[in-house]
Amino acid sequence: SQIIQPPLVAWANGAFSHAPVIRKTTRIQDLTAVFADGQAWRSCDPQLPVYTVEMLETPAGEGELWTGVTHLNPGKVGNEFFMTRGHFHARREQGEVYFGLRGQGLLLLQDEHGKARLETVCAGSVHIIPGFTAHRLINTGSEILSALAVWPTIAGHDYAALQGGFALRVQEENQQICVCEVQNG
Ligand code: F6R
Ligand code: ZN
Repeated sequence: SQIIQPPLVAWANGAFSHAPVIRKTTRIQDLTAVFADGQAWRSCDPQLPVYTVEMLETPAGEGELWTGVTHLNPGKVGNEFFMTRGHFHARREQGEVYFGLRGQGLLLLQDEHGKARLETVCAGSVHIIPGFTAHRLINTGSEILSALAVWPTIAGHDYAALQGGFALRVQEENQQICVCEVQNG
């Protein structure tokens, strides 16, 4: 038939169906030197899952797009909220779009000069990530933060460029969400 059943995404929780997906879980043990409090990080269960990315198995190549959902668990390392590692694209000029699906959080964006800003992520939020901009999701809530992302397959990831960390950290202080500026971030 000429009518094809496309993949489905459940807007309520970001679950894909009707299509093969690739799944990758990132655990506490994988997030070396990501959280500010190294002692608190070492005292966490190394196997504890922090986030899972599910991607549609679609073709790669010039002009092609990946589609994936990040499910970021609620939690903290010390007083710092769970977050993704964060990256620039290897092809720096390539942008990306994130769509908030559920939960409450922040998208940390940082340009190549180290200037950082935060956008609130919630169900329905749309985030245009320009080229030359590093990005990281932060779960400031008590439920899973899920966000759908679409990006060029040629973009790639550059994690090493941010080994010095981002210029902002988001922590909980007295039950409040607190944004701290990092020196040498
Ligand atoms: C792809 C993208 C997301 C992230 C995902 C995990 O370009 O931005 O799919 O890859 O949120 O974050 P990282 O890759 O920083 O561990
Ligand atoms: Zn990206």
